[in-house]
Amino acid sequence: MPENILEIKNLNKVYPDGTKALKNINFKAKKGEFIVVIGPSGAGKSTLLRSINRLSEPTDGEIIFLGENILKANKGKLRKIRRHIGMIFQGFNLVKRLPTVRNVLHGRLGYMSSIKGAFGMFDKNDVQKALEVLERVGLEEQAFKRADELSGGQQQRVAIARAINQSPSLILADEPIASLDPNSSQIVMDYLRKVCDEDGLTTIVNLHQVDIAKEYADRIIGVKDGEIFYDGSPRGLTDEVIQKLYRKKEALHA
Ligand SMILES: Nc1ncnc2c1ncn2[C@@H]1O[C@H](COP(=O)(O)OP(=O)(O)OP(=O)(O)O)[C@@H](O)[C@H]1O
Ligand SMILES: [Mg+2]
Repeated sequence: MPENILEIKNLNKVYPDGTKALKNINFKAKKGEFIVVIGPSGAGKSTLLRSINRLSEPTDGEIIFLGENILKANKGKLRKIRRHIGMIFQGFNLVKRLPTVRNVLHGRLGYMSSIKGAFGMFDKNDVQKALEVLERVGLEEQAFKRADELSGGQQQRVAIARAINQSPSLILADEPIASLDPNSSQIVMDYLRKVCDEDGLTTIVNLHQVDIAKEYADRIIGVKDGEIFYDGSPRGLTDEVIQKLYRKKEALHA
């Protein structure tokens, strides 16, 4: 296993309307590293995360994941690569009417034939494993409740369990706590950090809360106007850097 799970080289993304969302992004992520991406609204954080598994198609550059250039992968190859990348969204993206455990089982869909997947033909071992993962996020007692009967924080923990159940090498989380209260946010971040550490997963999380970024991250990447503005330790992210990162263009010369 290469030490760098992920390497992004000269990545650019121009949206069809001409918006330059990412400009020459370069960084490497090590195995087990917990990286938090911060930056003002519109900086390009979501575009960056979504480019990594090509939910958003980059314009040019290279994304080397486990030694392979994701941007060169055809459809079949991309499907295989995506198995190894767990994604967590702000809105949880669960199937609300299905039981919690069933949602976690969906993490295995990338490994199944489409027919088996379509009919939900999971075997006993799959179910056992899903229950174990639910236990790891403290939700074993909620396993057979409908997903929409759970609180927001619990639903996000189900989404974490689903991502972990993919047996991924990389977790991407786009503002996983943006719709949660401070207490639930803390609990979700605790579980996310815990399970990623336990499995030695490289994790990239977009956050708006600088204090939480500093509390949980091994490394912080600050993005501004589509460029990397800061890449370093939480300690190095001083108040001065934070101010500059979030300062608007027109105020730069004030
Ligand atoms: N589908 C799209 N088409 C055109 N422009 C887009 C599209 N999606 C995003 N953008 C633009 O790309 C830039 C980066 O957007 P992005 O959503 O990546 O920012 P962000 O840092 O995630 O912001 P936020 O913190 O508000 O979520 C912004 O200027 C945005 O308006
Ligand atoms: Mg965003």
